[in-house]
Amino acid sequence: LGLCLLSFVIGYLLGAIPFGLILTKLAGLGDVRQIGSGNIGATNVLRTGNKGLAALTLLLDLLKGTVAVLIGGMAGPYGALAAGLGAFLGHLFPVWLGFRGGKGVATYIGVALGLYWPAAVGFCLVWLLVAVLTRYSSLAALAASAATVLGLAVAGQGPVAILFGLMTVLLYLRHEENIGRLRRGEESRIGGSKQDA
Ligand code: G3P
Repeated sequence: LGLCLLSFVIGYLLGAIPFGLILTKLAGLGDVRQIGSGNIGATNVLRTGNKGLAALTLLLDLLKGTVAVLIGGMAGPYGALAAGLGAFLGHLFPVWLGFRGGKGVATYIGVALGLYWPAAVGFCLVWLLVAVLTRYSSLAALAASAATVLGLAVAGQGPVAILFGLMTVLLYLRHEENIGRLRRGEESRIGGSKQDA
């Protein structure tokens, strides 16, 4: 249990690194929380107009989840699960930002990659399909995460499926505003105006 707790804390500290915020500040683009949706993730970094920085945010927010799982995995399978949960919670609720963090999509994929890579591949396929069809990043993530939990359950990945069930509930809760905008037809589309949320 001690090693699981340590894995969770290491995962949390990794997950709590707000790469989107750090990269946009370093690039002199100001505070990403002041533009678009106000989120610190890759989708909102893209609204600064800097595609490379958005891609780097996606990559680093994803990899912190994978690295956390790999480190936790040294303490065994439950260490990997604890570290993955820690990284996801760290991204959503980072202590450095008054617990106001991101929406978790990239880190979710990274944790999936570390724990059971087919889940990450499945997530990306569903995300791409919905994103190409609708150009809504949020809707793509909502559909892909639900599909991931279903896929993990069907694949008999018991503990991983339970973890992703929990992470998916949190991901939906963090997309509350997006869901409201989608219902009102007000959600911004990928490649749309930089001004809208
Ligand atoms: O990855 C977050 C995405 O699903 C929504 O981001 O900035 O449009 O709220 P955003």
